Amino acid sequence: MDERGSQRASGPGRAPATDHLRASGEHDAAVLAALGARLRARGLSLPALRHCFGVRCAIHAPAAARAGHPSGEPAPVSSERRRSGPWAPPPAALLAYLFVAGDRVDAAAARRLLGDDVDLLADLGLIAVDAGEVQAGVTLLPIGSALMACDRRVPGQRRADGDRVACPDDSAYHLMGVVPPRATRPGLRWLDVGTGAAIVPLARPGTAAAIRATDIHPRALVMARLGVALSGRTDIELARADLLAGAAEHGPWDLITFNAPIPMPAEARGPRYRRGAADVLTRFWHQARASLDAGGPGGLLAPGGEVLAHTWQPVHDAFDALDLPGEVVITRYTPAGHTPAFGVTAWRPDRPRQRRLVHVVLDPERPHLSRAALAPPEAVAGT
Ligand SMILES: C[S@@+](CC[C@H](N)C(=O)[O-])C[C@H]1O[C@@H](n2cnc3c(N)ncnc32)[C@H](O)[C@@H]1O
Repeated sequence: MDERGSQRASGPGRAPATDHLRASGEHDAAVLAALGARLRARGLSLPALRHCFGVRCAIHAPAAARAGHPSGEPAPVSSERRRSGPWAPPPAALLAYLFVAGDRVDAAAARRLLGDDVDLLADLGLIAVDAGEVQAGVTLLPIGSALMACDRRVPGQRRADGDRVACPDDSAYHLMGVVPPRATRPGLRWLDVGTGAAIVPLARPGTAAAIRATDIHPRALVMARLGVALSGRTDIELARADLLAGAAEHGPWDLITFNAPIPMPAEARGPRYRRGAADVLTRFWHQARASLDAGGPGGLLAPGGEVLAHTWQPVHDAFDALDLPGEVVITRYTPAGHTPAFGVTAWRPDRPRQRRLVHVVLDPERPHLSRAALAPPEAVAGT
């Protein structure tokens, strides 16, 4: 098919409308997995993002592409050149500029690199090809061995429902850091609540035998489905759920993770993605406690199971009042005196009763929490 053959309705300079992505469901999972692997092999990789945008973490790349190298070093390509688009990036960098920076790139250069995948990507609704240029409708980010999808930030353009699934922030890396990178027991079952674009399960392919990832936001699940399919992950089941509602019926879980949304009053305006109801955190812990107390056929947590929740306010009265059984370790990482003090709460109900509040000082070499932060102090000292 020639360039005209795969033209879509969007005009030059306009991002393709991705309200109705065709990438989830209709296409064979194997086709999407193979496409994802080819995109990675052709340059949608962390080394490419490091080179083009000077970032160490993929999630920082979209903002760095807009703002320039965070190191202050000159960017490999001047922003004037990029904004004058469409332009033809070097082949090894083309996908980083297309899917991460959101640049308009030359259609012939894209076709030289991608061949017929240009048509496949257009059919899936992931790019628009128009008037000799290609533009992405979504952001695709390499996360570990996976590709994660989220909505592209297009200045002045709003999605029809006024909300978009934004690129994850560092909180996802803090949570990821405390998730065991390998299965701690055979057949480990993991529930990720408020999964968003499923970044945490996508980043930890070796942790569990089966993963259920849930969110209340339908658009988040669309993006999660796309990322899971492009990453060829068949072990992640996605479902809509309000916090832990129904979780025990699918349990028991060895690991439950939750990167809690920032609470937002019902009357507040603005994007709702990443925001939750004002009582979201209290409700999560109440549900956890109630499901544990209720027991039942599935049960919420398997023997020895743990809940890991990243929150904006790990220390608060309502949480203390619940008086959860077992071990609670709260690891805060924001500098002392800063509020809110973000952190991770680890709850292991089967362990001997213990309450521990840990403060981790991060630095540029270790910018995110690691699992060692949850270990007893003597074990940390010995590592
Ligand atoms: C801070 S984001 C975390 C997203 C992703 N897990 C990450 O780490 O980037 C919070 C997520 O919680 C979801 N959420 C908000 N309220 C929820 C609820 N009541 N039940 C389930 N998910 C909810 C939001 O849609 C959003 O995806």
